[in-house]
Amino acid sequence: MNENFITSAVYDMVVKKVNAPWLLIPFGDVHYGNPSHASARFQEFLDECEADIKAYQDRVRFIGMGDYFEVYSGSERAIVETHKLHDSTILRRDEVLQREADAFFELIKFMKGRTLGLLEGNHFANFSNLVTTTPYLCEKLECPYLAKETFIKLKWDYSNKKKSLVIHATHGAGGASTPGGSINRVDRMAKVAQADISLMGHDHQRGAWPGVQIYMDTDDQIKEKLIYIGRTGSFLKTRQVGKPSYADPAWPATALGSLKFMMIPRTTAVGKAGRKKLYKFRVELKAVS
Ligand SMILES: [Fe+2]
Repeated sequence: MNENFITSAVYDMVVKKVNAPWLLIPFGDVHYGNPSHASARFQEFLDECEADIKAYQDRVRFIGMGDYFEVYSGSERAIVETHKLHDSTILRRDEVLQREADAFFELIKFMKGRTLGLLEGNHFANFSNLVTTTPYLCEKLECPYLAKETFIKLKWDYSNKKKSLVIHATHGAGGASTPGGSINRVDRMAKVAQADISLMGHDHQRGAWPGVQIYMDTDDQIKEKLIYIGRTGSFLKTRQVGKPSYADPAWPATALGSLKFMMIPRTTAVGKAGRKKLYKFRVELKAVS
C-alpha cells in the first residue's frame, strides 16, 4: 500500500461551556514490542490519559504520529515483503502481525471515538492484502487513516460563534542530533504549510515551541496569532544495557513521553447592542507538556 499522500480531516467541536479546557494529545514513536520499548513510561502515559478522560470527559482528543508497534522499517520491508515467500509463510506472517496490532489496540482502545486519526510512520508492515498495519488500527479505533501528512481542522462552535484551529502533522524523516536541528526542521515545515499547530515525530525528540505570527485581519487591523511547532517524543529508550539500540554513542538520549496541548474556548465582552451583550469568541491554545 502506498502511504505517501496527504490527507485532510474536519471535526466539529461543539462547545457547551466556555472556559472548560479541552486536551489535544499527539503521541507516537511508541515502538511497542521493541526490546528497548519504555514499557513503564508508556504505562504511565496510558494511565495519565485515562485520568485525563475521567477529568475532561468528552473533551480529550488524540493524534497518532506513527511507529506504533515495533515492525519493519522501509529497508526491512523491502527484504521481508517479498513475493518469494511460501503462501503458508505469508499467512503465518499475517497472523503474527494481526496479533501484534490487536495487542497494541488493546492498550489504546480507550482512545476509540476520541482519535482525530493515525499518521503513518516509517515502521509498519503490509498484510498480504496490501493494507498496512496502521489502517488496520484505524479501523479498530474508528478514526481516519492520515497517511504521510495531514491537515486537521477543528471547527469550534459556541452559540453560533465560530473559530477554527488547524493542525498540520507528519511523522517526519531524517534525523537531528541537536535540539536546534530537530525543531528547525519543524519550523521550516511551518513556513511551507500554514497551521496553528505544526507537528513532527520520527527523531524521538520532544518539545513544543511557541511562536507568534502577525497578520492583517478582515477588519483591516494588524493582529497577532500564537502558533506552536512541536516534536512529539517517543516511548523508545535510546540506550539500555545489553539491549539493541538505534543510536550511536554520540546520539543524544531523548526525553520520553508525548506532547499535550490545552485548548480553552473563551469569550470576551466587547459591548452591548441595546440590552443584548456582545462578545468575541476565541480558543486559547497552550502547550502543557
Ligand atoms: Fe520511531
